[in-house]
Amino acid sequence: MSDTATSSADRPSPGSGPSTTASGASIDHGGRPTPRGTVVVTGAAGGIGRAIVDELVARGQQVLGVDLADGIVDALAPVEGARGLRADLGDDEGRADVLEVLGDEVCAGLVNCAGITRDGLLRDLDDETIALVLEVNAVAGAALAELLAPRIADGGAIVNIASRAALGNVGQVNYATSKGMLIGLTRALAHQLAPRVRVNAVAPGLIATEMTAAMPEKVLAKLTARVPMDRMGLPAEIAVAVADLLGPDTSYITGQTVFVCGGRSI
Ligand SMILES: NC(=O)c1ccc[n+]([C@@H]2O[C@H](COP(=O)([O-])OP(=O)(O)OC[C@H]3O[C@@H](n4cnc5c(N)ncnc54)[C@H](O)[C@@H]3O)[C@@H](O)[C@H]2O)c1
Repeated sequence: MSDTATSSADRPSPGSGPSTTASGASIDHGGRPTPRGTVVVTGAAGGIGRAIVDELVARGQQVLGVDLADGIVDALAPVEGARGLRADLGDDEGRADVLEVLGDEVCAGLVNCAGITRDGLLRDLDDETIALVLEVNAVAGAALAELLAPRIADGGAIVNIASRAALGNVGQVNYATSKGMLIGLTRALAHQLAPRVRVNAVAPGLIATEMTAAMPEKVLAKLTARVPMDRMGLPAEIAVAVADLLGPDTSYITGQTVFVCGGRSI
């Protein structure tokens, strides 16, 4: 998807109009080039979220990174083109804060990346724990998309970070359900917002971040052994897919879930 022969500095800047493929073909993006404006990235203090922020600013995009983590504002302060907002996206107030901070800024897109795990077999999970995972991983993404969609400029895009776990994992019934919801949201919202705004999902497999570092080593080794590419993925490998789906070169892709999982979903 990404043109690996082209460095990010060589790529056309977002909103610069029709682009040209490596073979010289011109893509006019249906008259809707990727708009300039802010991309909101949630979960921006996490491993994958931060990699997405870094990839987007390297491509010339402005980013508002939102996270529950206290350090988010300081972490993004030195990053040119990015700024941070601390907000709990698990409730309406935190989601409203995002709108307030944006003010009347034009929005170019939204990446719903904030997520949590509370693993366990269904019989061991209480209702509160199940509800929390569904709220943060899926309901928050839907609510933010609803709030921001009217402000996303024509040609903008939404990318939801789902998971390969949506296909099913032992002990992740709540997490897998939440990610399945995100994939359904992606497809339904893509219908609703077309042709103005595209909506896609990226479903990572095992990626080396704090989330997977929290897993027992034995479990991790067992899971990695099932990955055809024979290793865990890197946050940057997710970020490139996300940035491509937000960018002008994927102007005819909407409602899709791209599995970036080293072949684990095959
Ligand atoms: N790491 C993996 O192997 C993997 C695999 C598949 C999918 N994912 C998904 O990718 C996304 C990022 O995961 P990661 O590995 O970077 O995890 P991470 O734990 O490093 O990052 C998640 C971030 O979300 C933030 N967050 C959690 N609850 C929040 C809330 N209520 N409001 C605002 N922010 C909140 C956390 O503070 C954290 O910074 C998640 O949605 C996760 O489900 C990760």
